[in-house]
This record gives sequence, structure tokens and C-alpha cells, in this order.
Amino acid sequence: MDSAIHVRAVTKVFGEGASAMHALRGVDLEVPKGERLFLTGPSGSGKTTLLSILGCVLRPTDGAVEVLGHDVRSLDERALSAFRLGSLGFIFQGHNLIASLSARENVRLPLLLQGVPVEEAEARAAEELRRVGLGAKLEARPRDLSGGQKQRIAIARATVGRPPLILADEPTASLDAKSGQEVMELLTEISRERGSTALVVTHDNRIFHFSDRIIAIEDGRIAGRSS
Ligand SMILES: Nc1ncnc2c1ncn2[C@@H]1O[C@H](COP(=O)(O)OP(=O)(O)OP(=O)(O)O)[C@@H](O)[C@H]1O
Ligand SMILES: [Mg+2]
Repeated sequence: MDSAIHVRAVTKVFGEGASAMHALRGVDLEVPKGERLFLTGPSGSGKTTLLSILGCVLRPTDGAVEVLGHDVRSLDERALSAFRLGSLGFIFQGHNLIASLSARENVRLPLLLQGVPVEEAEARAAEELRRVGLGAKLEARPRDLSGGQKQRIAIARATVGRPPLILADEPTASLDAKSGQEVMELLTEISRERGSTALVVTHDNRIFHFSDRIIAIEDGRIAGRSS
């Protein structure tokens, strides 16, 4: 099993009858382990829907979805949330950090949820924050940090548990060009060092050079390589 992701004929329909919205119309996708694949396409084409299905936060209407060797349709909610927590790292456009927690507390959270003892979680969170260049900001709150720094904390939070698959939805959309490059450099280096697979949804052609492969999605279908 060399594929991190294996998707066949996946459809997603929101709603029913006359108001049915066909967000995905039959997607086939195979992502080898260790690949950094970028997914691009117009607004409303189904990128976030596909990423959410791969991230097991949304169930497909039809089709086969295998993520890291698991047939996700066969897992119940409890198994899915354990799988998400242990094997997937999520990064969003907004950093989604918890405002009342320090950088270190934000990053240790997924480890605590997995049952890692507090002291070990603290140490690993600090180490991961150093890895993203924020060793001096362990106790800082999100409001006291720049957009780029907040997104680097979000990367540390997504990668601290060493997930084999990282899913990112427009991770640079709210950043200036320089911060966007820094964030993508870190994400690329970390996934390369650890052999993790990364699927990145983005419109931002300034970061396309960080990808191994780029595919486009249009109107719920894979439209082929975009560049
Ligand atoms: N929960 C939902 N209920 C109904 N329709 C939805 C829902 N989520 C998404 N859609 C619709 O499905 C289509 C695909 O949405 P999706 O969010 O995947 O697009 P996207 O490619 O991520 O767009 P963007 O680049 O704007 O983020 C859109 O037409 C959207 O309106
Ligand atoms: Mg989207």
C-alpha cells in the first residue's frame, strides 16, 4: 500500500431534490505517500468539500475513500475521530488558534486529547514551536503575534503529533507574500523530513513551486494539471 490517499468515483450532494447541490461529481484521485500535492480551482469548485471528505469531517454521498489504508466509510464516528486525532494534521486559512491559550498550550492540546501526559506534551509542544522558529514565543497569546507567527503556531499544532497526512486549506490566503513563503517553506521542510504526505488547497500561485504536483478541480471534477 504505497498510496496515502485513494479515492474512486466520489460524489457529494448537499441537499435534496430541486435544491440539490452537486459539489463533487465523480472524483478519482491517488496520492502517493510522501507527495506534496496542491489542489487548485475556482471558488465553489469543490476543493474544501474534497479536503473535508479526506479529513473525515464530511462523508461522501457515494464512492470509495481510502485514507492511509483505512476505508473511511466503514469507520463509525468514534473511530473516525480517533483516526483524525492520531493521523491527520489540519491547517486552515484562519489559524483557528484558541485566543485564551498561549502558543505552547495551543500546540500541546492535540497531544493532551490523545492522552499524552502533560509534561511530555509540554516538552513536545515547545520542541515543535522551536522547529517553526517560535522558541522565544512559547508563552505568547495569539493576539500578541503577527499573522505569519500565528500560522506557524497552527503548523506546529498540526504537526506536533507527527501525523502521516497533513491537510491544508488555503494556508497562505490571509498572509502577505513573505509570510506565505515562510509558512510554506516550513510546511514543506517538515513534511520532507518526516516523510509525511501533504495535500494543500490553494489559489496562491506564488506558492506553487512548493508542490510536487498540482491538480485542478472544476465544477466538482478533476480537470487535470493546471501548471
Ligand atoms: N454544507 C453545505 N451545504 C450546501 N452546499 C454546500 C455546502 N458546502 C459546500 N456547498 C456548495 O458546494 C460547492 C463546493 O463548495 P466548496 O466549499 O467545496 O468550494 P471551494 O472550491 O472550496 O471554494 P472556495 O475556493 O470559495 O473556498 C459550492 O457550490 C458550495 O456552495
Ligand atoms: Mg474552500
